[in-house]
Amino acid sequence: MSRKLTVAIVGATGVVGSIMCRLLAAEREKWGEIRLLASPRSAGKTLYVGDEAVTVQAISAEAFEGVDIAHFDLPDDVSAEWVPVATEKGAVVVDKSATFRMDPEVPLVCPEANPDDAHTRPKGVIANANCTTLALIPTLAALDGAFGLRSMSVSSYQAASGSGKEGLESLYAQIDKSAGVERIGTEPGDVRAVLGEEYDAPFGAPLALNVVPKVGGWRDGGWTSEELKVRNESRKILGLPDLKVASTCVRVPVAVGHSQAVHATFEREVSVAEAHRALRDAPGVDLVDDPENMEFPMPIDGVGKPGTQAGRVRRSIDFPNSLEFFVVGDNLMKGAALNSMQVADLVRRELEAKQ
Ligand SMILES: NC(=O)c1ccc[n+]([C@@H]2O[C@H](COP(=O)([O-])OP(=O)(O)OC[C@H]3O[C@@H](n4cnc5c(N)ncnc54)[C@H](OP(=O)(O)O)[C@@H]3O)[C@@H](O)[C@H]2O)c1
Repeated sequence: MSRKLTVAIVGATGVVGSIMCRLLAAEREKWGEIRLLASPRSAGKTLYVGDEAVTVQAISAEAFEGVDIAHFDLPDDVSAEWVPVATEKGAVVVDKSATFRMDPEVPLVCPEANPDDAHTRPKGVIANANCTTLALIPTLAALDGAFGLRSMSVSSYQAASGSGKEGLESLYAQIDKSAGVERIGTEPGDVRAVLGEEYDAPFGAPLALNVVPKVGGWRDGGWTSEELKVRNESRKILGLPDLKVASTCVRVPVAVGHSQAVHATFEREVSVAEAHRALRDAPGVDLVDDPENMEFPMPIDGVGKPGTQAGRVRRSIDFPNSLEFFVVGDNLMKGAALNSMQVADLVRRELEAKQ
């Protein structure tokens, strides 16, 4: 019998890290030692992987000694510093930051679309795409395989937890502070006046009773980093370098679950029945499309689910080869932790087979 691999969760105290611990507990028997790492602020804390109490260690070169697979759940700049340290120690890194995603020597893997890419990793790093793209890919991979995807226009409705622990806590605090204020949101400036500037930090503006059409940092031409990620990362994962993509990313006052309205154009006309068949059979997709019975994807129903919920499928009225549909994906599950676990499983099988 082969040795069970040592796995580390780096950034275990964050919102994604906490879901990683939960998912790892569900497949505990596959792994050997589990190490949980975070910043020195968290060193000595106890976290649980199922019933197993694990003491959090401060990130250090020594902490990667003997680690076979390391899940990185850290801010971009911290990943940039520590991923090379982990790979130098021999770990295969599955990184969720944006740092390595577009590096041509780093595969960007969503197992529903390009699982084989996980096995060619010249730098010892596999990148996880951003949570918006990952929610979309299982639907796009299925529709592209069946009908040939030519272009898409995407509008997102993204949850506060996409901004990490700080974002989620800020949304709850904003809801608390605005709750009970009579007729709040009906007069110019009243939401800002009640909340004050102290809540602007994670989103750039108040999020309670509001939507914010800015996710990520500003880039040339008025785009945001998130909008460019949806375009560039979708192209890389799907192996469609010329895919035409337009995207507008918006933060909404939802705790968990990114929603997206998609207008997708194919090589030929596609009926709703054909699209339903492709989506129903697609790995990682749950078709939720019975509008007359009020069944369609919503974040409150998609939270905690492994699959992307897809529904509201319609033929575009004015665009013969296009479909409109709506998807919801749990940004912490498929959008982050679950995808990383799926990728690690591909690597685990490969490494165990070589022992
Ligand atoms: N949230 C999402 O929906 C989502 C989806 C896809 C990808 N991601 C990506 O996943 C990563 C983690 O995101 P998150 O939302 O979980 O963030 P988070 O809740 O803010 O957690 C950040 C984690 O990083 C650790 N950390 C911060 N600075 C550190 C340092 N200097 N050294 C060592 N550890 C440090 C924190 O440890 P302490 O607690 O000790 O500070 C914490 O464990 C990010 O790259 C993010 O872009 C997030």
